[in-house]
Amino acid sequence: MTQPCIFITRLIPDRGLALVKQHFHPDVWSDEMPPSRAELLQRVRGVDGLLCLLTEKIDAELMDAAGPQLKVISSMSVGVDHIDVSAATARGIPVGNTPGVLTDATADMAFALLLAAARRVVEGEKYVREGKWKTWHPQLLLGADFVGSTLGIVGFGRIGQAVAKRAKGFDVRVLFHDPSAELLHGAQPVDLDTLLQESDFVSIHVPLTPETKHLVNASFLAKMKPSAILVNTSRGGVVDQTALYTALKSHKIFAAALDVTDPEPLPMDSPLLELENCLIVPHLGSASKHTREMMAYLAAENLIAGLKGEKLPNCVNPEIYSR
Ligand code: DGY
Repeated sequence: MTQPCIFITRLIPDRGLALVKQHFHPDVWSDEMPPSRAELLQRVRGVDGLLCLLTEKIDAELMDAAGPQLKVISSMSVGVDHIDVSAATARGIPVGNTPGVLTDATADMAFALLLAAARRVVEGEKYVREGKWKTWHPQLLLGADFVGSTLGIVGFGRIGQAVAKRAKGFDVRVLFHDPSAELLHGAQPVDLDTLLQESDFVSIHVPLTPETKHLVNASFLAKMKPSAILVNTSRGGVVDQTALYTALKSHKIFAAALDVTDPEPLPMDSPLLELENCLIVPHLGSASKHTREMMAYLAAENLIAGLKGEKLPNCVNPEIYSR
């Protein structure tokens, strides 16, 4: 049997790469930067398996450039908004993702951002480095208390629930909005308007879909308390950044903490970077060593299963198997 051709779009953690190499000889893109669109279209030509990251746009054009032999698309991510899943389904190609293993790391990051924004940690750090720390002052860099507050979680899937679980230790009232979710961790289901009006912290945990694109817009932000803090660890496209800038600049809300932006990386001329009350980190939600190793491992498992003609352990379009 001839060896299948595989393209891996970046040097993934060894736990995953070694697993692929136990079975196959993949072509691996080893630059720090992702392949350009032209390079990607060229490198996928004739591949049987593609292991990609969330930085690559995997659409119908790319699938056609790969060719009809393409058997599997495996993404080292839980989110698959960079993949045209319907186009893959139409071609009978299973698409794999990496759910579960990044739930805790992402919930931890949501908490790190929430507390950092509430207690102005980054502003404080900058203040020290700029030599502005002259004395202890009763009014210096005052923030918000998390203990005893109300936390509103928009999207109550795995990560939203893990955030609620953590909040229990802070004596916080937890509200959530997610019509499809079950009651868990003492959180109370409410409609979105109630959540926005009553929450001191709003944490976003919805996938990016046409329905959630710019869910956080001017009207969403206008319903939040002026003292409220927005945390987003989901996808940048869920937030209308122009509306967020206006709300932060005019202090319609207290602060925002973003792990994700649209686009990524955020251009250096983004007005959000002018604001002290907007904390931004470079999409680090899953960035713990163990988590990234597990994501690479799951992505490798999906790739190998697809190449062997087996069901992917984590498949986002399982309907292809019932045809
Ligand atoms: C994912 O896997 O979708 C995450 O955003 C990566 O951190």
